[in-house]
Amino acid sequence: MKTNEPAAPAIFVIFGGTGDLAWRKLVPALFDLFQDQCISLHFSIIIIGRKPLKDSDLLERFFDGVKKFSRQKEKVEQGWKYFAKHISYHYGDLNSIETYNKLAERCTVIENEWGIKSQHIFYMATPPLTFGEIPKLLAEAGLTKDKLRSRIVIEKPIGFDVESATKLNKTLSRHFSESQIYRIDHYLGKETVQNILALRFANSIFEPVWNRRYIDHVCITVAEEIGIGHRAGYYNEAGALRDMIQNHLMQLLCLVAMEPMVSFEANEVRNKKADVLCAVRPIPHDLVDQFVIRGQYGKGIIGGQEVLGYREEPGIPHDSQTETYVAMKLFIDNWRWQNIPFYIRTGKRMTKQVSEIVVRFRSVPHRSFPLDAYHGWHENELIISIQPDEGIVLRFQAKRPGPKIILKPVDMRFSYKDSFAMSIPDAYETLLWDIMTSDATLFMRADQVKTAWEILSPVLQVWSEKTPTDFPNYEAGSWGPDSTKFLFEKVNQHWPLPEVLSSSVIKTT
Ligand code: BG6
Repeated sequence: MKTNEPAAPAIFVIFGGTGDLAWRKLVPALFDLFQDQCISLHFSIIIIGRKPLKDSDLLERFFDGVKKFSRQKEKVEQGWKYFAKHISYHYGDLNSIETYNKLAERCTVIENEWGIKSQHIFYMATPPLTFGEIPKLLAEAGLTKDKLRSRIVIEKPIGFDVESATKLNKTLSRHFSESQIYRIDHYLGKETVQNILALRFANSIFEPVWNRRYIDHVCITVAEEIGIGHRAGYYNEAGALRDMIQNHLMQLLCLVAMEPMVSFEANEVRNKKADVLCAVRPIPHDLVDQFVIRGQYGKGIIGGQEVLGYREEPGIPHDSQTETYVAMKLFIDNWRWQNIPFYIRTGKRMTKQVSEIVVRFRSVPHRSFPLDAYHGWHENELIISIQPDEGIVLRFQAKRPGPKIILKPVDMRFSYKDSFAMSIPDAYETLLWDIMTSDATLFMRADQVKTAWEILSPVLQVWSEKTPTDFPNYEAGSWGPDSTKFLFEKVNQHWPLPEVLSSSVIKTT
């Protein structure tokens, strides 16, 4: 259950803690929580690694990460020395029970010093497919026995298809109960993503129109300017469908489409989200091409700079068939959404970084103004901007000043920056705090993960049998392949215009 209480004493054990995730996200987020006194003073971070490393070297690296990525940079010099005392390094062979027995002893020593029992959080900062025996050995060392106080946190990718995800979930459930497993989808920790629930269920004005009678279609875009960075190996195996659609975009879809929850209890929220996934209309194998379009970027220009095509990126085979872009159309077969298309798309190396949900309302039933008043007319839109400009825009018609009646769309805006004079916490800050307060609301349950894979199964199967013939089919710096326009059901449906996506003031003439 969501709570505003401070977190209980905790020992936070990070496997793979010498890697990028701990340096860039986890430790800076913990530092920020510590500064905000959200975590108990009885708090210890143990980094587990396979190479011998001095605490001081590790601390130096984390200090660098905190200086770069903390939300409260002005507090780093002052606050670091207090925070750093809570971090230590534990070296050992991850496949040996000895390491885990020692870890258990260490936890006991810490708790004895504190004179208090604490939570044990085991954070797998490595992909699940590489963490092998860790859950089993944790269990053998008795570290998972306390079902209330111990939990495991895992990062995506959670499998690469239905079978592998099921296998992984089975392995975990042998040693942990479902309530102890926290599967991270960092999108769910983003402020604006959580705000979708507040918008829909803490206001009475949206619910009456949030259905097939008033909504024409919904577009969800997660576009990135960045390419694949140093992750060629992982990305070329995964591709955009597995990397983004199966998790982040499916979760956004759930939040937009779910039924109102009765309470903010974790399973109640997750049940409502799972219902959406279960209601997604299966994509017939022979119609995959009509429902899903894949793309791969060629070279192009972004922000005035020439960038390489995907196949020229270091570590990517020159004939790679991996998709870096996916657009798809989904229907949700229930009373609220029957026959309303949800268009979702994501891609790397697109024109600009933007994550946005656009809910497009139906046209007015009858046009009462003179015909020429409708020149710049536009259906109402509710735009939920997740990043980079967090906020919400309601777009409606107004009469342009002057003697003639000319209608133009105008925006009513809510901007996080302007409304709240405080910095927005990173998604990891929210999620780590939730883990420490035992709140699983924003984490994926095993059944959700499996159903999301099931939705994509026909696509994965057809794509594995049919290699694309037109790759690369979009230029870096563009909005993706032209062919995505064939997904739309009606002429008035289209991807939101770039100026909508940028959340800039709309142009009115
Ligand atoms: C990750 C994907 O889950 O999310 C990356 O693996 C992607 O490929 C990233 O770049 C996007 O997250 P954000 O928070 O930068 O939008």
